[in-house]
Amino acid sequence: MCGIIAYIGSKSVESVILVCLTRLEYRGYDSAGIAVLNNGELQVRKAVGKIKELEMHLQAHPVTGNIGIGHTRWATHGEANQINAHPHTDSQKNLAVAHNGIIENYYELRHEMLGKGYVFHSETDTEVIPYLIEDKMKEGASIEDALHHSISRLKGRYAFVLISDRQDKKLFFACDGSPLIYAKGENDVFLSSDIPAVVPLAKENYYIRSGEWGWIKDDGELVLFDKKKSPKTYETHQIKIEAKDTEKNNFPHFMLKEIFEQPKIIRSIIEKRICLDEAKVLFPEKESDNSYLGRLSRIVLISAGTSWHAALVGKHYLENIAKITTEVDISSEFRYRNPIVSGDTKVLAISQSGETADTLASIYEAKAKFLRVIAFVNNTYSTIAREANAYVDLLAGPEIGVASTKAYTAQVLHLILYASFLSEIRWVSKKEERKKLYSEIKKLPEQIEEILSQADIIKQWACDFKQSKDFVFLGRGLNHATALEGALKLKELSYIHASGYAGGEFKHGPIALITDQVPVVCIATKCETYEKMLSNIEEVKARKGKIITISSKGDEKTAKLADYNFSIPECIPLLSPILNVIPLQLLSYYVSVERGCQPDQPRNLAKSVTVE
Ligand code: G6P
Repeated sequence: MCGIIAYIGSKSVESVILVCLTRLEYRGYDSAGIAVLNNGELQVRKAVGKIKELEMHLQAHPVTGNIGIGHTRWATHGEANQINAHPHTDSQKNLAVAHNGIIENYYELRHEMLGKGYVFHSETDTEVIPYLIEDKMKEGASIEDALHHSISRLKGRYAFVLISDRQDKKLFFACDGSPLIYAKGENDVFLSSDIPAVVPLAKENYYIRSGEWGWIKDDGELVLFDKKKSPKTYETHQIKIEAKDTEKNNFPHFMLKEIFEQPKIIRSIIEKRICLDEAKVLFPEKESDNSYLGRLSRIVLISAGTSWHAALVGKHYLENIAKITTEVDISSEFRYRNPIVSGDTKVLAISQSGETADTLASIYEAKAKFLRVIAFVNNTYSTIAREANAYVDLLAGPEIGVASTKAYTAQVLHLILYASFLSEIRWVSKKEERKKLYSEIKKLPEQIEEILSQADIIKQWACDFKQSKDFVFLGRGLNHATALEGALKLKELSYIHASGYAGGEFKHGPIALITDQVPVVCIATKCETYEKMLSNIEEVKARKGKIITISSKGDEKTAKLADYNFSIPECIPLLSPILNVIPLQLLSYYVSVERGCQPDQPRNLAKSVTVE
């Protein structure tokens, strides 16, 4: 949610920042801006819309220099217009700030500054930052002291970068709760909201911790302080992401590339995690205290969006395989409902980005109640990974498409593996049972390949559905979550209204929606509720709805009932959510493309939601 970048180096700052902003665009694309220092002169350029608009604006109004900051915005305070676009300056236009997060006490600070005669131009919370710094400097403070004083006044979650014509060889920053990374290569130094934005120029990095602030000198040295202004040391780590991981590699969109990466990712998770001979799952990152895991009486899964759907599947796994009472909570709900918990409850937070503010807030809430938290994250350097007591790496590789696909299947696979891991510790599964499950899991990559080899079937369907106004998705048991995920994907990517329902609930209201204009996706692969799904299909047919089925290979009965049928390779029901979601991912992608939407960057959304 908002991407920020800062650069000092030998290259043209304008072009480096534009490339980085394009890679950060998944974090927001309402407006973009850049500020550059050139021989002590501050130049600011902004444009509404995507980075391409800023690029065009810069062609007409170029900037030069080799120290600068950039921002791509997901609007929180104030609409997406040029005035609200970052960077924001002080009243004298001596300094510029690009900010990610929310200054929660901005209203009070704004009034205080208005009282002192400052004139605000934007509706943003950010604009108080340059004014606070300017005000302190007017009292005679150095920029360093003014920055330190100003951050002591801010409440909320933020990361911001700042340049000033008073100190034109330093990049200033402060971080509290939103991600900010110091990254450097041979001749290039960055501050960035994420790592993929700065590869391959950057080779090593340090994740700036909450409460840290400081500056980077033009020789690249990072000067770091804590909130009390005590100097801090830091250690950089080698960046492992390669440039090819962040490129489309001949696919028209990242989303399609990421859907097609799933066999490879599932294969590598299996290789890393499963030891078939010993019937064991390996979680080298897990907590060492297995006896504590054996004593657990309850697990609460917390997550948001697509990760919440993975959690709904996870509940089935944890209850059926590990025999632990499991609850699923939406992060933003858990945080505020003062849940009743006891010491033998464990919280499992799921987040592909590891930065979702609601999930992070729930983790703080859980820890305040003395609960242990394990996080399943796709970014092991993320804030959630750091704040949890332990984390599990989802191993899906960088996911750039805003709609989560490969991270979702990696989450679901990790949840079944974790359930099985717990079942061994808790003595509720036999070695042979686990072996059988792992042999079935090993078939997944080839089964996904088989589904993907028939992607053209779904592509053709997309032409028929591009004019649809409403879609219904039905699923039962484990695949209720698949129905919810299919509906979410379709609505967020193609802006067609879509709702997912538990098949059994369909007759209690949603059935009223059915007409001959409404496609109904029925997830009807073989499992214990298969017959019940067939009844749902008949109910839709009786009301002339268009029936799309996801059925098991060889199931002629279902295929005959359907107007459109896609066959899934036969698998054990427990694994069906991983396979059944793939055609639904493809459906949402192709319908979005057919409707002329932008599947990688759907309107109003952002991949990393760092505000509550
Ligand atoms: C945003 C993204 C979704 C994601 C959700 C939760 O809404 O667009 O794709 O599922 O955030 O994100 P997380 O990173 O916590 O999984």
